[in-house]
Amino acid sequence: MKTTRRDALKSALSIAAAGLAPGAAVASGNGHGDAAVTQGAGQGGPLAGDPNPLASLSDYEIVARERMSHAAYEYIAGGAGDDVTNRANREAYDRIRLNPSILVDVSKLDTRVSLFGHELAFPILMAPTAYHRMVHPEGEIATARGASAAGAILIVSSFATATLEEIAAVARTPLWFQLYVHPDRGFTRELVQRAEGNGFRALCLTVDTPLTGARNRQARVGFSLPAGVREEVMRRADGSPMRATFDASLSWKDIGWLRSFARVPLLLKGVLNPDDAARGIDAGAAGIIVSNHGGRNLDTAPATIDALPRVVERVQGRIPVLVDGGIRRGTDVLKAIALGATATLIGRSYLYGLAVNGADGVAAVVNILRREFEMAMALAGRPTIASIDRSVLWPAG
Ligand SMILES: Cc1cc2nc3c(=O)[nH]c(=O)nc-3n(C[C@H](O)[C@H](O)[C@H](O)COP(=O)(O)O)c2cc1C
Repeated sequence: MKTTRRDALKSALSIAAAGLAPGAAVASGNGHGDAAVTQGAGQGGPLAGDPNPLASLSDYEIVARERMSHAAYEYIAGGAGDDVTNRANREAYDRIRLNPSILVDVSKLDTRVSLFGHELAFPILMAPTAYHRMVHPEGEIATARGASAAGAILIVSSFATATLEEIAAVARTPLWFQLYVHPDRGFTRELVQRAEGNGFRALCLTVDTPLTGARNRQARVGFSLPAGVREEVMRRADGSPMRATFDASLSWKDIGWLRSFARVPLLLKGVLNPDDAARGIDAGAAGIIVSNHGGRNLDTAPATIDALPRVVERVQGRIPVLVDGGIRRGTDVLKAIALGATATLIGRSYLYGLAVNGADGVAAVVNILRREFEMAMALAGRPTIASIDRSVLWPAG
C-alpha cells in the first residue's frame, strides 16, 4: 500500500517537473480567490477528477524529499535529540477526536479572523523558516509570491537567503519579521528598523533559541549550506556578514529594550510555559506563539497542541495566542482554534511546496490546508470561527 503511493508520487515527479501537477493540486481545491466567506455545501462533491498525487500536505513532503539532497531533507524534517517532540507535535493532533454537530446550515462558511487590525481571510500563517534558497533557486522571493497568491501572511526568518528589500518588493500580502537578537544590539536595532522601513507589520521575537538543540540528524549527514546559498539578512550595511547569530544572554530586560524603539506589535515565539505567557503580557508582548520550534530545540518538550490550552487559560483573551508545530491537516487547524488559538502557522509543509514547485507549490500547500479547514468546519457543523469551541472536541477519556 505504502509502496504504491510512493510509486505514484514518484511518477508524479515527472509531471510536476513539467509544472502540471501543482496546477492540478490547486484546481482540486475550491479555486477561491480572496473570498473569506465561502460556499460550504456544494464544493467538492463525490466526483473524482484526474489523478492528483499531490492531494495533501504529506504528499508534498514525499515528493519534495525526492527533489532535494538527503542533507537538506534531514535539515528540514529533523528535530532535536530523538525526535520525541517532533513526532509528538503530529501524534498529539491525531489523538484528539472530533465531535461533529449535524443538521447545521453550513452553506456559507466564514473563516475570517482579525490580528493586530488586519483581517485574515483564514487563520493560517506561514512560520519563519531559514534558507529557502536551499530548496529553490528563487528562495524567499518565490515563497513570498506563493504566500501572496494564497493570501497568507509570511513571517520572514532572520536567516533568509534573500534580502528584506527583495522580499518586500514582491509581497502582496502582509509580511512579519522573525527576529533573532544579535549580540551586537546596535545591529539588531538597525535590523528591526530596516524591517519596519520595508513595511513589515509585526516582529516575532524567537525566545526558545538561546542556542540550537542537539540536531543529531543534521550532524550525521554533515549538513552545511550548499555553495552559493548565503544568509542575506544578517549582514551589515556594507554587505559583510555578521558572525555569531544567537545571543544566549537574551533575557526579559531585552523585551523592554526592544519595545522602546519597535513601532510594530511584538510577538514572543516559542512559549510553552503559561508563566512565561503571563510575564510576556506584563512585558508588553502583543501576541504569543505557542511553539517548540518544530521539535528542533528542547527534545521531550510537550507537543504544542498539548501546551496550548494552559497558555490560553492564563492569557485569558488579553492578547492573541497562535500555535505552530505538526499542523498538516485542516482538522488540526480546527482543533487548535477549538483549544483557543486565534490562528495557526505552518513551517515545513510550505518548504516542501517550495521544493516541489516554487511559488505555485507554496500557494498549493496553503490552499489545500485552507480548503481542508473549510471542509472540517462544514463537516463538524461549525460555520464560523466563533462557533468553533471545545464542544467540537470529543471528550477525552
Ligand atoms: C527548516 C526549518 C527552519 C526553521 N527556521 C526557523 C527560523 O529561522 N526562525 C524561527 O523562529 N523558527 C524557525 N523554524 C521553526 C518554525 O518557525 C516553526 O516553529 C516550525 O517549523 C513549526 O512546525 P512544523 O514545521 O511542524 O509546521 C524552522 C523550522 C524548520 C523546519
